[in-house]
Amino acid sequence: MDYAVRGPIPQRAAELKKTGRKIISCNIGNPQALGQPPLSFYRQVLSILEYPELVEIYKGNSLSHCPETAIEYAEYIQGEMDTGLGAYSDSKGHLFIREAVAQFIDRRDNTLERKGVLSDPDNIFLTDGASEGAKNIIELLIKDRMDGIMIPIPQYPLYSATIRRCGGRQVNYYLNEEMGWILTKNELEESYAKAQTENINIRAIVVINPGNPTGAVLNKKCIDEIVSFASEKGIAIIADEVYQENTYDVKFHSFAQSVWECPEVPLFSLHSVSKGFSGECGHRGGYLEIRNMPRLESTNQTMNDVLFRQASVNLCSNTVGQILVYLMVNPPPMDSEAGKLHQTEVNTILSQLRSKASIIKRSFQEMDGVQCFGKVGAMYLFPRLNLLPKQKNDFDYCMALLDSTGLTTVNGGGFGQKEGTHHLRIAFLPPKSILEEVLPKWVDFHRNYINS
Ligand SMILES: Cc1ncc(COP(=O)(O)O)c(C=O)c1O
Repeated sequence: MDYAVRGPIPQRAAELKKTGRKIISCNIGNPQALGQPPLSFYRQVLSILEYPELVEIYKGNSLSHCPETAIEYAEYIQGEMDTGLGAYSDSKGHLFIREAVAQFIDRRDNTLERKGVLSDPDNIFLTDGASEGAKNIIELLIKDRMDGIMIPIPQYPLYSATIRRCGGRQVNYYLNEEMGWILTKNELEESYAKAQTENINIRAIVVINPGNPTGAVLNKKCIDEIVSFASEKGIAIIADEVYQENTYDVKFHSFAQSVWECPEVPLFSLHSVSKGFSGECGHRGGYLEIRNMPRLESTNQTMNDVLFRQASVNLCSNTVGQILVYLMVNPPPMDSEAGKLHQTEVNTILSQLRSKASIIKRSFQEMDGVQCFGKVGAMYLFPRLNLLPKQKNDFDYCMALLDSTGLTTVNGGGFGQKEGTHHLRIAFLPPKSILEEVLPKWVDFHRNYINS
C-alpha cells in the first residue's frame, strides 16, 4: 500500500525538522497542527465529561470560566451515556448520538419539508474517523480479486490503499481538470466499459465531494447523474462527504437527497469531525450512514447485520470521538452565550480558510506555468505544474521545494493524475503570517527551478 500524504516527502520533512529546520506541514489536512484553535464549546463539554467534578468547581466559581450551556450539555450527555466516557458504548455508538446525527442529516437536507426519506438512526454507525467507515465498507464489498471499486483520479489515497489491502481491483475514472475537476457521465461509462473488458465485477463507485485533492464541489446535476449511473449498473455509491462544511462559495448537495427516489441504489455516506470547522483530527470521530440497505447475496442478511457484527468485534468506536460527533451535529443554541461564541469561532475559521486559499492562489499567478483550475473547496489547492525541466517530475519539485523553503506538500503522483501531467497538493491551513513569509520564497524557488 502507498500513502503519499505520509510518504517520502513528509518523511524527509521530519528528518529536516530534527536538524532544527523550520517545517511548514502542508502535506496533510490537519488543521490544529497548523495552529487552528479548537472550538471552545467542544473542549468545555469534553473537559467536564472527562472530569465531572469540574462542574462543582465551576459552580463554586460563579460559572465564570464555563458557560452554563456547556454544563447543561455535559449533564445531558452524561445522563444519556449513563456509563461515562470510560465505558464501552453500544457497538454502533451511543443511540442518542446516532439519533442526533439522523436529525442533523434531515435538517441539512430539509427532508421533512421536501417529503424526502428520513434518516434512520439504526442505519448509522459511529466510527473512529471516516477512514474506519470507508475501510469497513470496502472490506465487505470486495469478496474476490476480480471485484472492483471505481475511484476518482486524482483521489485521496485511503481508497487506493484500502482496495489494495482488501485484494480488489482499483478502477480509475478521471476528473476533468479543465472543467474544474468535475466528473462526466461519459467518463464513468468509459471507465466502466474498460473494466468490463477486463472481467472486473464493479461493486461500487467512490465519490469524494467536496474533492480531495481537487477541492471541487459537485452540483446537483452531477450528483444526480452519478446516482443514475449507479442505478443503471446496479452498483453502490460510497460518498465521502467529510468536507461538506468546506464549500466557501457554493452550496453543498448531499448524495442522501439524490437517492431518495432511487431505492435501488445503496448509499454509504461518510462524515467526520476531522475537517469542516472542527478540525479535531486526533480525536478520531466520524459516522457512516447507509441508505437503501443492500442485502448480502445468497443470504437473508443485510449489510447492516454484517457491519454490526464487525463493529461488535471492535466493541465500539472511541467515546470522545462519539461526543465530538454529537457536538458537531448538535451545536449550542444560537440564543445562548455559548452559541454566539461558537458561531463566531466557526465563522472565523471558515473565513480564514477561504482567505488563505486566495492568498496562495494569488501567488500561483506569479509562477510561470502554474495553473489552478476550479473553485476553492475542501482544504487543498491542486495546481498543475506545466513547465518542469526535462527529466524532472512533480516529486522532484516537491522535494526541492521542501529543501529550499521548508514547505511540505505532496506531489500529484501520490493522488494519481493523467499521464504526462504534474501537480502538487497544498493544504491551505498555515496562519497568514507564515504564508506571507513563505510564499515569496516559493515564487523565487519556482523561478529558479523551472529555469534550471
Ligand atoms: C477525503 C477524505 N476522506 C477521509 C479522510 C479521513 O478522515 P478521518 O480523519 O475522519 O479518518 C480524509 C483525511 O484527510 C480525507 O481527506
